Amino acid sequence: MNTLNHVAFIMDGNGRWGQKRGKGRNYGHLKGVDTLKKIVKSSIKLKIPILTFFVFSSENWRRPKKEINYLLKLIKIYFIKEIENIKNQGIKLNIFGEIKKLSPDLRKILKKSMLITKKNKSITVNLAINYGSKNEIINAFKKTKKINKKKFEINLDTKNIKYPDILIRTGGHQRLSNFMLWQLAYAELFFLKKLWPDFNSSDLKKIVRKFQKIKRNYGSV
Ligand code: IPE
Ligand code: IPE
Ligand code: MG
Repeated sequence: MNTLNHVAFIMDGNGRWGQKRGKGRNYGHLKGVDTLKKIVKSSIKLKIPILTFFVFSSENWRRPKKEINYLLKLIKIYFIKEIENIKNQGIKLNIFGEIKKLSPDLRKILKKSMLITKKNKSITVNLAINYGSKNEIINAFKKTKKINKKKFEINLDTKNIKYPDILIRTGGHQRLSNFMLWQLAYAELFFLKKLWPDFNSSDLKKIVRKFQKIKRNYGSV
């Protein structure tokens, strides 16, 4: 049976979920936060050590201003409202992405959340905010003096974190949208038609069971 260290999520389909209910795209984003919280909770029960969620991509700035503002507000509210809960559940928070482009108050909240959860041990949750894999790779190249795989990899946002074993993308599209291109080299990919707000822990369990039985070759036989 394969050991599972890390599951990464492209939480796609929020906008369509809200629109389908006649309540607008932002309503879908709001519901998407509930799914994230539930998935973290059940991952702790399943003893998955690391999760990464794609929250906001470096390309999502192309969206209408109203939606961008709502998303950033939602992130801020999540951290303010949930931080006690996050701390008590033993969640260690980590942020991937270029946070220097975010507003100073949001940056402050993100940094504080990382600091107060630094010593937590039940699970590591990475949130990719203003994250784009190509930028991450270019920045890592710039930071690495003498390039070799090991020296380069510690300059990626993942630093010493084990790479995803599983990638789950909801929402029906089978693409990576500039997410963890380097780190997903040997991940098992799962694409679901379900929209993110409808994703649940039984979907996750099914995927984990399937994953455990996969023969992972890494080029060997
Ligand atoms: C993903 O859902 C969430 C973010 C990008 C923040 P979308 O907003 O892309 O939802 P769809 O794909 O338009 O339905
Ligand atoms: C990927 O979803 C980004 C996040 C989930 C944060 P998108 O909806 O932005 O991806 P594309 O544009 O359809 O590829
Ligand atoms: Mg989308």
